[in-house]
Parts: sequence; structure tokens; C-alpha cells
Amino acid sequence: MNINGKAYHTIWVKEGEPDTVQVIDQRVLPHQLVIHDINSPEEAAVAISDMIVRGAPLIGVTAAYGLYLACLRNADSDELKEIASMLKESRPTAVNLAWAVDLVMDKLLNTPIDQRPSVALTAADRIKAEDIEICRMIGVHGLELIKKLYEEKKETINILTHCNAGWLATVDWGTATSPIYQAAQAGIPIHVWVDETRPRNQGANLTAYELLQQGIPHTLIVDNTGGHLMQHGMVDIVIVGTDRTTAQGDVANKIGTYLKALAAKDNNVPFYVALPSSTIDWTLNDGIKEIPIEQRSEEEVTSISGWSEGKMQKVRLSPLGTPAANYGFDVTPARLISGLITDRGVCAASKEGLLGLYPERA
Ligand code: MRU
Repeated sequence: MNINGKAYHTIWVKEGEPDTVQVIDQRVLPHQLVIHDINSPEEAAVAISDMIVRGAPLIGVTAAYGLYLACLRNADSDELKEIASMLKESRPTAVNLAWAVDLVMDKLLNTPIDQRPSVALTAADRIKAEDIEICRMIGVHGLELIKKLYEEKKETINILTHCNAGWLATVDWGTATSPIYQAAQAGIPIHVWVDETRPRNQGANLTAYELLQQGIPHTLIVDNTGGHLMQHGMVDIVIVGTDRTTAQGDVANKIGTYLKALAAKDNNVPFYVALPSSTIDWTLNDGIKEIPIEQRSEEEVTSISGWSEGKMQKVRLSPLGTPAANYGFDVTPARLISGLITDRGVCAASKEGLLGLYPERA
């Protein structure tokens, strides 16, 4: 996707410097475009935990390149196993992270040591390339849903999204945004309601930025506005991303997603979740009981960060001494979800629905 008219991916190996992986520093968007260098697996883990990169698919790709950097330094099996654990622990909820690490490790441990750097690079490049294609296909299938709504309504389709499940959370296209970008390319008039998504404001900072850059009409709203809009017929469809989807179709996503799903159910607004297969955790069923929910620092709630006087500044919101809880994600049960938009098609949020698209998992 484009930034100032130039096409970017969110991660790449620096040209002419094979020991440097570069990412867009998402902490300073939308105010500055800063390219951040990652030169070691430890720096890859910090990029994930500090949210220099974020979003389930991009976290997985970053971890894969982290293992490649590890191989350049020391490709010994014990060392790699330690690094794999460190990378997996950098953020707990998005399952793509463990999926990517296990995939690359499986290849490395079956490869002679001297060939591990090149095998790791090929594996990471492949995960990256597949993510782009998978996200493109999510858009192809999601576009059909938007097309159908437009054929019925024949007026601008209003789409609500939460957090950032855009191209900045993946390598390109995004998950929830891929149908949006492809609907715009198909000439369907669309408008996106963007939840700001406290505490870190990925909606205000990232989704608004990428929609603006792609010329998609959108409006920023505070997180609690969605229900009101739905009651007044101002939302035609909700499309969100996910960090982990269980085998029975329960979905973990950024905190607040569940409340949007409840409001959508109450107002008969279709609620869809867009996901690559790497986000499905086939080992889990009951998402509410089984998905680990990341708890982040209190400071993200008691303060707010923004751009002032040419730099990012943090200001305090609440009284000193007031404790805060910062649950990063919540789980939306399958019964509230109209359907899952995957790269293989759209299915019901259920075991049968998922197995219909992924029969090899039966
Ligand atoms: O904490 P974040 O910013 O990594 O959370 C991101 C989300 O919740 C996204 O919606 C999810 O990862 C899907 S990304 C395509």
C-alpha cells in the first residue's frame, strides 16, 4: 500500500545489508515516517513487545526474520531454541507469533548448521510473501459481501472497524481493510467509521492514516460511538481483525471488539471477522476460557501520547495513585459473529464452518 504515493511493505531486509531488517516504526505514525533497523533477535523481540511493529500477522513475520538474524550470529540448535522461546514470549495473545516461530524452527532443526542462515531467510521471505497473497485473497472474498450490500442499498456502504487490522498490521493489504481497499478499487462507494481504540489509539493513529493515504472516505469516532451509530442505521457492516481464532470460531481481538459485536447483534448489523489461517489456533475451543489475554502497563491507560511541539509527548489523564487495568484483548464468542472472512472464502464461525474451508484439519 502507499505512503505519500510510494508503495511500501511493513518489513523488508535492507538492500545491500543482509544483517539488517527494516520496519516502519508504528509508534510515531501518523506524525512521522521513521524506518527502524533491527539487527538482532533481541531487537526483534523488543520491536514486538514495544509495539514498534504490531498486528498479529506482522508480529509473526517479524519473529521469522528475528530467527534469521539469530542464525547469522550463531545457528547452534540450543541457542536457536532459547531465542525461539524469547520471541514467543514477546506478546502472548496473537497466535501467528508462535505459528511463525514453530514453522521456521522446524525447518532449521532439520538443516545442517552452515545452511541455516539461508534456509531461515528463505522461510521468512516465504511467510512474508504468503501473508501478502493471503491478505489479498481475504479482500477478494470480503469484497463479495460489500458488493452484495451495495446491490441491495445502492448507496454508500458504511463499514465500522476497530483497532488497526490494516496493511500496517500485516505486510500489505491488511485483513479487515483488504475488502475495503478492494471495494474502493471496484468503484463501490464506501465510508469507514474508525474506532479510535484506546488505550494506544491504533484506530486514530494507524487506521485513519492508512485510509487517508489510500484516499478512502472515513470518520474517526470514540470507542463508545458504534452502538449509537448502529441504532440509527449508520453502519451497514462491521469488519474487524483477530489475534487468535479458536477451532469453534471464538475470536480474540483488541479490547472492545466484544462490545461492538453485542451492539451489532442487537441492531441486526452483520459482524464479520477477517483472518489468515495462521491466526486459527486449532488446539483451542473455548476462547473465553482458553485464550491468554495480554495485560499491558497501567501507564497506557493513565496517560495518553500524542504529537506536540514536533515530538511525541505523553500527558497524564488520571490522578496519581489511581490504579488502572489494561487488558489488551477480549474474546467475542462465535454466536455473535456473522461469518469469518478467510483467504479460502467466507464461512460460519463454527467448527463445521472452519472445517469446511480447512478439511485437512479434521
Ligand atoms: O495490540 P495490537 O495493535 O497488536 O492489536 C492488533 C489487533 O487487535 C488487530 O485487530 C489484530 O491483530 C488483527 S491484525 C490484522
